[in-house]
Order: sequence, then structure tokens, then C-alpha cells
Amino acid sequence: MTAARIVVVGTGYVGLTTGACLASLGHRVTCVDVDQAKVARLSAGRVDILEPGLSELVARGLTSGRLTFVVGAREAVQDAEGVFLCVPTPMGAGGSADLRAVEAVTEEIGDVLPSGCALITKSTVPVGTSRRIREMVGRSDIPVVSNPEFLREGTAVVDFLNPDRIVVGSDDREAATWVGSLYEDLASATVICDAASAELVKYAANCFLAVKLSYVNSIAELCERLGADITVVTEGMGYDRRIGRSFLKPGPGWGGSCLPKDTSALVKIAESVQYDFGLLNSAIEENIAQRDRVVAKIAGAVGGTLNGARIGVLGLAFKAGTNDLRDSPALAVSSVLCALGAELTAYDPAVGGEIAGMTVVDDPYQVAKAADVVVVLTEWDEFKRLDWSYMAEQMDGDTVVDTRNLLDPQAILDVGLCWQGIGRPRVRREVNA
Ligand code: UDX
Repeated sequence: MTAARIVVVGTGYVGLTTGACLASLGHRVTCVDVDQAKVARLSAGRVDILEPGLSELVARGLTSGRLTFVVGAREAVQDAEGVFLCVPTPMGAGGSADLRAVEAVTEEIGDVLPSGCALITKSTVPVGTSRRIREMVGRSDIPVVSNPEFLREGTAVVDFLNPDRIVVGSDDREAATWVGSLYEDLASATVICDAASAELVKYAANCFLAVKLSYVNSIAELCERLGADITVVTEGMGYDRRIGRSFLKPGPGWGGSCLPKDTSALVKIAESVQYDFGLLNSAIEENIAQRDRVVAKIAGAVGGTLNGARIGVLGLAFKAGTNDLRDSPALAVSSVLCALGAELTAYDPAVGGEIAGMTVVDDPYQVAKAADVVVVLTEWDEFKRLDWSYMAEQMDGDTVVDTRNLLDPQAILDVGLCWQGIGRPRVRREVNA
């Protein structure tokens, strides 16, 4: 494969992973950011994002000279063959994706792109954005290409280098094929298509995952009411190859930087073409209902009223392996608990500092101190290895609410505590009359 000259605009977890991985595939990559201090840190090999393998790849890229970091997109793109837009597209007013960053960069570089350079969107953008960018740039010699990413936080490098598929869409087929060829060493299935289809693949995939999780959380609720066990039910479902085993774990609701904003955005996209996406709306509502059911379960564990209850929280990040708090279900549950008058002490192995409404501690055992209940909200493996008999000694109450079904219920019972998960039978001591 011939090495290409690539510019990546935006050094968040998508942009930095894309830049460092493309450099590791042999391309010459310049990463651009507006944040001068961040560019200086990255140039010195300092990576702020908690993403396994990323620091090493950045260091290798810097040493090889194939990866550089600069401020100033106009200068950086001057001899580029392809420019990846990896800037944020957060949820904007009314639930639609906010495209201001994408538009600002397009505006900034549109007139200085060298002829033939492909302008590639990696950020999740509404269907039709490629067309909009093409109109903004207003140059027939600049092909616009959609190449959505499917990177999970915490495994972004592995996901990038071992993709299930690569999707590249453009109304300029030659440009799409060229972008696909940047990844040819990865020997992945590649879908080359039109721009609108590529843009929709990303939303369709993420929203499917959200629907799957809301469905599983609903089935977990049914399990509780019917006396079934969700771990058995999902095991039985997962063997069916049409369903698959992944994304079948119930929890306090889905969150993170993608699923909530992409579900809202797709509802809006559907509305824009007069389609009422009822199924997706229900999945979003079910996610709020799941949070409220978790709150109710915690209230039940402290005797019904949360006002004044002391709650020990294990886990704040939206999932294990990341320090990302964006749309974290753990925070959503915590903030409802606070609003209802509970006193929260929280620990997360990757999160420190001040969080409104709670005391964040750096020792997991402190959350148990005088707690009426301990609640597991993020599935960090290290919570399994805590000294639970010491936790039990510290607590005032006798229940652990495990919203990730992470702990071994028998081990919790063995130290004299009750265990309550999601969609599973409660485990409590037999009380002898
Ligand atoms: C997601 C998509 O997976 C990825 O393809 C996309 O590019 C970005 O969004 P990410 O947000 O990093 O990735 O997290 P993911 O691992 O997919 O989890 C999403 C949410 O679902 C988390 O809140 C997680 O806790 C929850 N989840 C996941 C469950 O509750 N149960 C599961 O079985 C899996």
C-alpha cells in the first residue's frame, strides 16, 4: 500500500485514535487541534485520554516521524491527500446533532484544500451532511466522503485495527475507493456506497444497540416480576446466532458519548422526513424508566425513603475501562438519589475531583463507612476483588444493590450481606424464626 498524506482535524478520542492508527499503518499523519496546550502535550507524547494502547501508538508515531501535532488547520492541509474531520458533534438544541464545529472547520479550510484532496467525515453527522459540506466548499475538485467510525471507548485502538467492517460512502466512487484503500492492510470487510447510506449506517448501528439494551432491560424487569433469571435468559438467547451474545447485559441504563446523542439525533432525522420512529422513542423512554426502577430498588433497600439515607456508590464512569462521565447512567442515578435527599459517597477508580451533590473519595472502603446501602453502578472488575467482609463491617445497612450483576451473590451472602441485582432473584440470609 502506498503511504498517503493525511490530516486529522480534532484530537479527541476518535481523532487521536484515527491519527495514531493511520500512522501505524504507514501513512504520514498531521493531527490538528485548536487547543495549543493540548498540541504541546501530544507533541511531547503525553496522552490525556484513558485508552489502552493509545499512548504507545502515539509515541511510536512521533519517533517514526509519521505522526505530528500542530495548531492551525489551514497550513496543515496544504499538501494533504485526505482530511478527516473528527470534531465533536454533540447533541444540540432539540436533540439534533450540533454541526457547528464541522461547519467551522469546513469554512476554515475549504478554499485552501489542494485540488483532489478528499474531505472525509468521521464524526457522526446527520444524513445529508456530505451534501451540505459539498455545497459549503463549493468546489467540484474536492470529493466529500463519509467514513463513520465504530470505536468503543476503552477499546478504540483494538477496534480500529481489527474492524468488523469499514464503511466508506461518497457520490464520488473513486474517492470512496481511495479512502477504503487507506485501510487495506487491515483486511476487513469494506462497504463502498453512496454518502447517505454510509451516514445512515452509523446511526442505524448505534441505535440498534440502544434498542437491544432497552429490550434486555425490559426483559430483566419481567424476570424480576416472573421469578426468572436474566443471566440464564440472555445465555439462552445469545446462542442464537441471529441474536448474538453481545449487548445482552442489563444495567442501570445505557449512556456514554454516543448512544444517547445518536438515538435523539435519529429520531430528529426521522421527523425531518415525516417518519415517527416510535420504536426508537420507546427505547429512549425505557432507558429513563430503567434509571427510575434502579432508584426505586435502592429506595426499597433503605426502607422506602431516600431522604437522609447514606448511600455508598461504586462507579461513576459510564462503563468500566474509561474515565468518561458523559451521559453516564451512574451519574444519572446518583443525581436522582441526591435530588431525593440521599447523602452520597462515591468511588471510581478512574474518576476523581469534585462532583456536585456527592463526596468523591479515593478509597473504595470509605464508601461503605456508615452506609445504609452500597450500590454498584459501573462494572469495574476491581469491585469484585474488594474485601467484602471489611465492607460489611463498615456498613450500617445490610444490602448491596448491584446494578451491573457484577458481584458473586454467594460471596456477598457469605459476608452477611444481602445482594440485589437486576433481573435476578434476590439473595438474602434465611432468618430463623
Ligand atoms: C458505542 C458504540 O458501541 C460504538 O460502536 C460507537 O462508535 C460509539 O458508541 P461506547 O459508547 O464506547 O461505544 O460504549 P459501548 O461499549 O458500546 O457501551 C454503550 C453503553 O451500553 C454503556 O453505557 C454500557 O454500559 C452499556 N451496555 C453495553 C450495557 O448496559 N450492556 C451491555 O451488554 C453492553
